[in-house]
Amino acid sequence: MSHSIQLENATCRFGDLVAVDEVSFSIEAGERVAFIGPSGSGKTTLIRLINSMRVPDEGTVTVLGEGIADLKVKELRTLRARVATIPQHLGLVENLTAIQNVILGRGGKRGTFRSLRDLLFPSRKDQETIHALLDRVGIEDKLFTRVSQLSGGQRQRVAIARALFQEPDVILADEPVSAVDPARARDTVDLLCSLSEEDGYTLCVSLHHLELAREFFPRLIGLRSGKVVLDGAPETLQESELTELYELSDEEMMADA
Ligand SMILES: Nc1ncnc2c1ncn2[C@@H]1O[C@H](COP(=O)(O)OP(=O)(O)O)[C@@H](O)[C@H]1O
Ligand SMILES: [Mg+2]
Repeated sequence: MSHSIQLENATCRFGDLVAVDEVSFSIEAGERVAFIGPSGSGKTTLIRLINSMRVPDEGTVTVLGEGIADLKVKELRTLRARVATIPQHLGLVENLTAIQNVILGRGGKRGTFRSLRDLLFPSRKDQETIHALLDRVGIEDKLFTRVSQLSGGQRQRVAIARALFQEPDVILADEPVSAVDPARARDTVDLLCSLSEEDGYTLCVSLHHLELAREFFPRLIGLRSGKVVLDGAPETLQESELTELYELSDEEMMADA
């Protein structure tokens, strides 16, 4: 199997702060991985390294065979189209309909004029494709509903459909279920995972919710202060390793106070 994502000693700093600290791991094509760890441990920065929104200060990040630091603008655009990101808070446009938000997932692959026309007057083909996608995520009746009229769970489904519309090789989701109740969160994570099994895309999800990570992901990568402190299948990890991950050190408690 080919590597989908490979980090070698990747480090990312903000001034003096080391947000991602010499991180190394490989994720194979089609794997499903949850990034876990307390707030501030580096999950979002890690996702931004993988989707090439940031370049590592040290070390390398290779995605779908391409070293992201070496790419020219055009190659970067091609790579980004193959890696769909569901950002924290989903990044939907409230005043646009579900179908329009999904079309925006196509991003800059077309010229501005064509993109605008697609958005205002979706082609029959786009309508059919997106209707089928909304059907897969369980909101086929919401095609022309404005996002502002949708519930939290329905919004998550629009964001998933928008990612799928890109036909990506990798989907990255940053705390996609932080804004809904536990039952709804479970449904959304379940959906992301079963779609990835059906379509074969690599799935990396950062999750604050340890129970969901253990239930749905064959592999967990635990971060603390930017370092990988655990990496393995949930059943091979010690209970104490997992609880310690979320326990604050004295130093962190001082910083918190
Ligand atoms: N743009 C930024 N500028 C400065 N510091 C940042 C920035 N983004 C993140 N950080 C810091 O980097 C660390 C890791 O943050 P982040 O990756 O957002 O963690 P997580 O997603 O696990 O909460 C935190 O200490 C955070 O304050
Ligand atoms: Mg985050």
